[in-house]
Amino acid sequence: MIRLFLDSADIDEIRNVYSLITLDGVTTNPSILAESRNKYGSPILALKVISKFVTSHGGTLHVQPVGTSYQAILDDAHYLLEELGEETWIKIPVTEDGLAAISTLSGEGVHITAASVFSFSQGMLAYKAGAECVSVYCNRAQEHQIDYEEVIRSIKNAFADKMLLAASFKNAIQAEKATLSGADSLTLKSNVLFSDLRTDLMRKTVEDFKASWTEAFGKDRIKPE
Ligand code: G3P
Repeated sequence: MIRLFLDSADIDEIRNVYSLITLDGVTTNPSILAESRNKYGSPILALKVISKFVTSHGGTLHVQPVGTSYQAILDDAHYLLEELGEETWIKIPVTEDGLAAISTLSGEGVHITAASVFSFSQGMLAYKAGAECVSVYCNRAQEHQIDYEEVIRSIKNAFADKMLLAASFKNAIQAEKATLSGADSLTLKSNVLFSDLRTDLMRKTVEDFKASWTEAFGKDRIKPE
């Protein structure tokens, strides 16, 4: 079965989605945390609440350092691990500095999600540096005319037993294509996750059923008043 993550830093949204479906955890990034900054005293407080909630539900929390140099990534990562616990997964974009940080941190036993992956070679380098998970950013790839389905297929073909988390979706079709290409894990924002429940087709379909019943029986419930 596919592993499913919610891409969010909003604890109310996270609680709500967990109350509806089974999730494997939560992913965040600096932009998502910046968006929900007014809800909490500080991003680290938000992350602490989210981390407690997610781990108590048996899931994993994936958090990205803000710093982009090797040392800054390490500093942010160590701070996050200290504040949120050693079981936190550190999301690191696969730049040159990122790769060096992946290598160092994975050597320390830290769980790494290699992020912002747009090519086979980035994925290969990240796994070989010790990342447990590689995250292909599908919509961002598509916006730059990169065939994310091919990227996923080629990485999965060479690293079949490794976790491949498809991320960065603008719509549910992209997520479907990512899984058909071999992604074993998905992370979606809640508006994309629930988008197919809110289409005009769905609205019309349920309204049609209700309308035909109401026309025949004069009310819109089966249950007697
Ligand atoms: O977790 C990955 C994700 O946050 C990237 O998404 O929508 O900023 O491309 P996006």
